[in-house]
Amino acid sequence: MASFWDLDAATYDQGSDHVPRSPAERAAWTAALARHLPPTPAPVLDVGAGTGFLSLTMARMGYQVTALDLSAGMLGQLKASAAGQGLDVATVQGRADQPPDGPFAAVVERHLLWTLPDPGGALAAWRRVAPEGRLVLFEGLWGRADRAEALRARARKQLRRLRGTPSGHHGHYDPGLLSHLPLAEGTTPDQVVEAVEAAGWGPARIEQLSDVAWARLLQRPVWERVLGETPHFAVTAG
Ligand SMILES: C[S@@+](CC[C@H](N)C(=O)[O-])C[C@H]1O[C@@H](n2cnc3c(N)ncnc32)[C@H](O)[C@@H]1O
Repeated sequence: MASFWDLDAATYDQGSDHVPRSPAERAAWTAALARHLPPTPAPVLDVGAGTGFLSLTMARMGYQVTALDLSAGMLGQLKASAAGQGLDVATVQGRADQPPDGPFAAVVERHLLWTLPDPGGALAAWRRVAPEGRLVLFEGLWGRADRAEALRARARKQLRRLRGTPSGHHGHYDPGLLSHLPLAEGTTPDQVVEAVEAAGWGPARIEQLSDVAWARLLQRPVWERVLGETPHFAVTAG
């Protein structure tokens, strides 16, 4: 898995959904983080940080950020971006279910749960390093999580392919690997809420990230706008 993401590091930031493409989208993400995180400055762990879109945004907001990721290649991109932007982000190469000790005031992730062999075990490990802290998960209704969204997503993918829009990925996970990942077909809001509560984080809260979707839609070509955006949502607890 680490070698898949090492290879993806070179292309990941080219994906239209991977990093904000407009000032408005950046502002919508900042607003979402400000709504859900404790006040700055506070130590925050970004799990599966990748090229660091969340880590860099939180560092810019004034948080003390630790970025954890399996892939040295992804963390290399993150470090280069942080240096280029004059931001301070600590990086740790390692597994999501073996986080650094903390304690953290918040644990944050985006688009990681689907690729974990044991999402519940990882959520419980994050609680141990943020016993008084907050959990902020950013997920999307992609894959087969919702039939109507799956149809729209397929149409969007075909239009983007015709237009030559980069996907941001160099390839796909091997089917043998996918079969070991319980959320690989998509994360439904119900599954995420249930997993959070089962891992000992207490009652979960949920919010649709409609500002992010709106800001993204404004950047799309007209013919793509009619197909809408993948709905994103935040599940928080603690
Ligand atoms: C889809 S990318 C998301 C990156 C980033 N959070 C974002 O929103 O752009 C998934 C990231 O999770 C990392 N990853 C996958 N499995 C992991 C694991 N078991 N432990 C730590 N990181 C993992 C990958 O290396 C990759 O950087």
